[in-house]
Amino acid sequence: MAGRVSIETRDELLGVTAALGVAETGALSPAEQRLLSRAPRVDRALAAACRRAIASGEDPLGEAFGVVASRAERRPLGATYTPQTIVRAMLDSSRLRTPSRVVDPGAGSGRFVVAAGRKFPDAELVAVEIDPLASLSLRAHLAAAGLSARARIVTADYRSLRLPSIAGPTLFIGNPPYVRHHDIEPRWKEWLVSEARGLELTASRLAGLHAHFFLQTARLVRAGDAGVFITAAEWLDVNYGSLIRRLFLERLGGYGLELLDPRVRAFSDADATAVVSGFEVGARPAAVSVRRVHSVAELGRSGTGGRVPRERLEQAPRWSALTRRARTPPTGFVELGELCRVHRGQVTGANRVWIADASVELPERCLFRSVTRARELFAAGGALSDSAVLRHVIDLPRELDEFSAPERRLVERFLRKAKLAGADLGFIARHRKAWWSVGLHEPAPILATYMARRPPAFVRNLCGARHLNIAHGLYPRERLSARVLDALAQHLSSATELRDGRTYAGGLTKFEPKEMERLLVPAPDQLPNGADQR
Ligand SMILES: C[S@@+](CC[C@H](N)C(=O)[O-])C[C@H]1O[C@@H](n2cnc3c(N)ncnc32)[C@H](O)[C@@H]1O
Repeated sequence: MAGRVSIETRDELLGVTAALGVAETGALSPAEQRLLSRAPRVDRALAAACRRAIASGEDPLGEAFGVVASRAERRPLGATYTPQTIVRAMLDSSRLRTPSRVVDPGAGSGRFVVAAGRKFPDAELVAVEIDPLASLSLRAHLAAAGLSARARIVTADYRSLRLPSIAGPTLFIGNPPYVRHHDIEPRWKEWLVSEARGLELTASRLAGLHAHFFLQTARLVRAGDAGVFITAAEWLDVNYGSLIRRLFLERLGGYGLELLDPRVRAFSDADATAVVSGFEVGARPAAVSVRRVHSVAELGRSGTGGRVPRERLEQAPRWSALTRRARTPPTGFVELGELCRVHRGQVTGANRVWIADASVELPERCLFRSVTRARELFAAGGALSDSAVLRHVIDLPRELDEFSAPERRLVERFLRKAKLAGADLGFIARHRKAWWSVGLHEPAPILATYMARRPPAFVRNLCGARHLNIAHGLYPRERLSARVLDALAQHLSSATELRDGRTYAGGLTKFEPKEMERLLVPAPDQLPNGADQR
């Protein structure tokens, strides 16, 4: 550890950057030149101390930046510098062992680009920074580290960066700034929307600046490139984050997410939860490694941890819950979703019309015994064997030509009454192919309740009952014998706890189909012959 270097004023910082050789790092921007023109000469001992600190891996200029630039100045640019431990862990986690080029977007004082320059001695270095004071620190940092000969420093907006093509892969690594949309100029919001559209994606004008950086990175990358970014984790869950989530899964080839547990304060001057995303352009992994890390020391092992199938990430509207719950099932267990798809039951749009009362006169084949109330499943006690206890749901075919003339008269009479009750006007009815055709799902061999103040009931459906949306249906992906299905339902009923679902105010617990698919169940060959126990 070199002794602490004390730089206390902006002018002192400018003076040190001049003394460390910013002039040898290429043409300065007009804004940098203006700043430098007022740089005082600094004590040679101070410059020498900075050199020594940089040689030993510290970043005295970045530290000084945090002192001389106020929070109010740093916030609009999202200038929060990354601790060196995180920089090193991220570099070590890179999938590229010998990148030909390293790009550091929003380089600040150059922590990533300098560390990368040392780790990859043959790589060309590109550092992009919009703030001229930070950019001078970055130049001085690279010069003092002896890396300026292979560095290109771009003092400009990352969104306008152009990269010449080179032989070999590029590593994009860094900490894109977190700036909320309120501080983003309207022209850049338009840029985001139109560039996203160019990639056949939808962007929201409410997106934070890190979304702009992800998009620009997606525009710059070529197959074989890779990247590791640390950002505020907000994009995992919010609506505008869907752009980043799609870029991560599709164009960028995301392979790993490491969510820093909120209790780990990764950045001393920011409270946001951080996530490290690793990507490899052109890769399309079947599953993404998703883990929650509890200390900075655990970072950088994104090849390990829970594997979340790409399909699940594609469908999930929020990702941080997946990181919390991602786990490797214990030996002999699998997720229910590996064995069965879980589907919500059909929505009728007007139960008062489509659940038949005793007086209804329609052809038999339009009436389906269905589970229409959760209590019917709770009362079934493990197996539903008598459909006579259930009500009928009316499900007419889309084409009414198939009915004989007398049947057709009954159907027409019913439809007239249904129309009088407004059954053709509701949102659901208007969005069906034919408003009169409810479209019940096939009978599911296991039915489950999913919303109650008690754990869900998993019930074997032995009578071919259909189900409305008060229940979920479990549909085996491959044929499962009746015995295995019995044992599966029994296991689920006895082992599923309220805490597996999502609890709402008032103590109601709900299991979305995808959440239900995440329940752990014994693999089929481990299931006892539950049928014998019934
Ligand atoms: C989160 S800081 C990261 C700094 C440095 N990479 C680190 O990790 O220590 C983000 C940096 O991006 C810079 N920045 C903000 N907007 C930018 C833009 N549009 N183009 C380039 N850099 C930008 C900020 O000035 C700030 O230095």
